[in-house]
Formats: sequence, structure tokens, C-alpha cells
Amino acid sequence: MSKVRFEHNVSLKPYNTFGLEAYAKFLSRITSENDLQECFDSSEFKTEKHFILGGGSNLLLVNSIDKLVLKNEIDFLKIIAEDAQSIRISVGAGMNWHQLVQYTVQKNWGGLENLALIPGTVGASPIQNIGAYGSEVKQAIREVSGYDLNTKEFLVFSNNACEFGYRDSVFKRKYLQKFFITNVVFELVKEPSEFTIAYGAIQQELENMGVQKINIANIATAVINIRQSKLPNPKDLGNAGSFFKNPLIANEHYERLRKKYPSLVGHHSDNGVKIAAGWLIEHAGFKGKRNGEVGMHAKQALVLVNYGNATGAALLQHAREVQKCVFKQFDIHLEMEVNIIE
Ligand code: FAD
Ligand code: EPU
Repeated sequence: MSKVRFEHNVSLKPYNTFGLEAYAKFLSRITSENDLQECFDSSEFKTEKHFILGGGSNLLLVNSIDKLVLKNEIDFLKIIAEDAQSIRISVGAGMNWHQLVQYTVQKNWGGLENLALIPGTVGASPIQNIGAYGSEVKQAIREVSGYDLNTKEFLVFSNNACEFGYRDSVFKRKYLQKFFITNVVFELVKEPSEFTIAYGAIQQELENMGVQKINIANIATAVINIRQSKLPNPKDLGNAGSFFKNPLIANEHYERLRKKYPSLVGHHSDNGVKIAAGWLIEHAGFKGKRNGEVGMHAKQALVLVNYGNATGAALLQHAREVQKCVFKQFDIHLEMEVNIIE
């Protein structure tokens, strides 16, 4: 007997961190590969377009989703290989990301500690190659597996094949809504002795905590403390983290801006200078400025917030206004990081 169910007209308010009201025409909870295969044979899958949902923490729902929403709830963790130095784990794509980080930290398996407290699911982590505090998830990912939703074929992507970049991967481009990630393989370091703490605020926080001997548990705690001090908790204030990416500009452009704005924050890289979008938005006058039910957060100008009763359209309009003003003042285009669902 078929197990997979299709709920009709489901509110997505509990499933998006902006807390926006929007409905799914159909919603199916996928808890295993079997569920997905059963779903492929259903009339709903054959007749409706589909949308893949994780934890809804990187979405702006401007409209309802007049499609079949496949909500990833595949939750497992198994060790697939290990030696004296390292361990490989395969993790179900529906597992909560922070729970995975906590589990690995508790086991003293190094590699994910700097990515503590990022909301969402394991399966979404490769989509935009989540990053924070000097780490990106691509450093720990060995394989990403799932189903091509057109051919129904099971595919395995090596780290290289994922084409990871800054907040980018092949899954965010060519395979967006075409590939359903079912599990991710991570390789982690047993008893780690090397740590990523160069990101200024981490060292400062470790000092504040009075840490004598650094380990991954106290790095994760430092990251959690820093995040809690500036990022709004979606339970209190709807948001999707950084709304825009940090832009890359040419060296000459940076030098020109620095003459006018000596405090401009930028980091040199091989292909130009990565600018702190939060700085641009703050200096365009948007930080902490409320516009009805929407605004850019008072402690982190890169975070667009819903004060409670915003619509998706109002949030998007505000984001476009920010883009327009930043472009006018600095001649820099801010690219949206959040997935806009119209
Ligand atoms: P969703 O929002 O559900 O989906 C995002 C995209 O991935 C959609 O296009 C969806 O269709 C697709 N997708 C989801 N699951 C699958 C799957 N299994 N297969 C195929 N496609 C899928 N991000 C960072 O990188 N760094 C941060 O520091 C960070 N901080 C944040 C802080 C806050 C307070 C919030 C709210 C968000 C933050 N984010 C951050 C953004 C967000 O947490 C990540 O992008 C996260 O990986 C999204 O996971 P999700 O499961 O919620 O994905
Ligand atoms: N800044 C300001 N004003 C602000 C905010 C930031 O001037 O209102 C400047 C400050 O000089 C600060 C610098 O920007 O030193 C960088 O700020 P922060 O350390 O908060 O990081 P960010 O560049 O704004 C990025 C990621 C975050 C990630 C943090 C920590 C992007 C788009 N965002 O933010 O990721 O958590 O670094 O590593 O790359 C996300 O993607 O959703 C996200 C939250």
C-alpha cells in the first residue's frame, strides 16, 4: 500500500523563517528514498510542477506555491568509513543542520564547528555552499546524492562536480528544482588539532570566554555567542539571514570608493575586492530604519526583517529599494542571496 501522502492547500507559514503566509497547492513529506520513488508514480507528481522545500530559511515567498511541494524530511546519520585520522558520515538531507553540527562537535569530529547555528537542513547546505566565520561547507563535503527529477535517475556528485563557489553551486544554477538531494557525505577529522579562528571576532570571543585550550566545542560556542549577539532569531523576528551576497568589485573601483569613504570594509582576493554589503547598506542609511512592517536589522544591516505583518511583496520591494540606493551611491549592484519565490 502506498505510504506517501499529499496534503492539499497547506499553510507554509510554519515552514519559512520570514514567517510569511503562503500556501502549497499540495505538500508531500518525503521521509525516505522510497517515499520519493512512490511520489514519482503518483498522479500529483505527473500533473503538477514541483518545488523542493528544506527548512525554509533561505526563501522569500512572495506568492503561494501553486505546485507540489516536496518537503525533505529524510533523517539519518551513518558512518560509512573511518581510519585513525578521519571519519566519513552519510547524512540524510532532511536532518537539521545545527543538530548535525552539535552531534559532530560532541564526538570531537572537526570540520563543521564554525558553521554552528546556521538554520535549515543538511540537504540545503551544498545548494549555496553555506559559509560562516572562515569556513564553507564545501571543505567537508565529499559527495552529494539524490534524484534527477526529470529522469528519476539516482546521481552522485563528487565535490568537484558540485562546482562550489561563494554562496553558489551547480545545484543553485543548472539543477535548481531539478535535483532532489537525499543525502550528503562529509569527511571530518578525528581529534582535530588545527582550527579556523583567524576570523577576528572568534579570537576575541574565545578570549572573552576565558578559553585556555582551544577545541571545537569552544569554537562552536564562540560562534553561537557571536551569532546570537547580532543575528535576529527568526522565532522573534522573521528573516532569512543575509539577504544579499557580499559583492566583488574591481581594485580600481575599490580605490576610488576608499578615497571618498575611508572606512569602507573590503577584502582583497585574486579577482578583485570583496566588499561588506552590510557596510554599504548601513552607509546608504538603511540600518535599523523601519519602513512599515519591514526594514534592515539594527545590529546587522545585511539582514532584511519582517517586523510581524509584512507581505512577501513588501519585503521584496524594500530589498529592491536598498539595491537601487546602494547602486546610486556606490555604483555597486547587490545580488540577492535569498531565493525569491514569485
Ligand atoms: P530552504 O530555504 O528550504 O531552501 C533553499 C533552497 O534550496 C531552495 O531553492 C530549495 O528549493 C533548495 N533545496 C532545499 N533542500 C533541497 C534538497 N534537499 N534538494 C534540492 N534542493 C533543495 N547561510 C549561510 O550560508 N551562512 C550563514 O551564516 C547563514 N546564517 C543564517 C542566519 C539566519 C538567522 C537565517 C534565517 C538564515 C541563515 N543562512 C545562512 C541561510 C540559510 O540558513 C541557509 O541557506 C540554509 O542552508 C537553507 O537551508 P533550508 O533547509 O532552510 O533551505
Ligand atoms: N558591517 C557594517 N555594518 C553592518 C554589518 C556589517 O559595517 O550593519 C561590516 C562590518 O565592518 C563587519 C563586516 O561588515 O566587520 C562583516 O560583517 P559580518 O562579520 O557580520 O559578516 P557579513 O559579511 O555581513 C557574512 C555572511 C554571513 C555569515 C557572516 C559570518 C554573506 C552574504 N554573509 O556576513 O552569512 O554568517 O559573514 O561569517 O556572505 C548568510 O549567508 O545568510 C549569512 C548570515
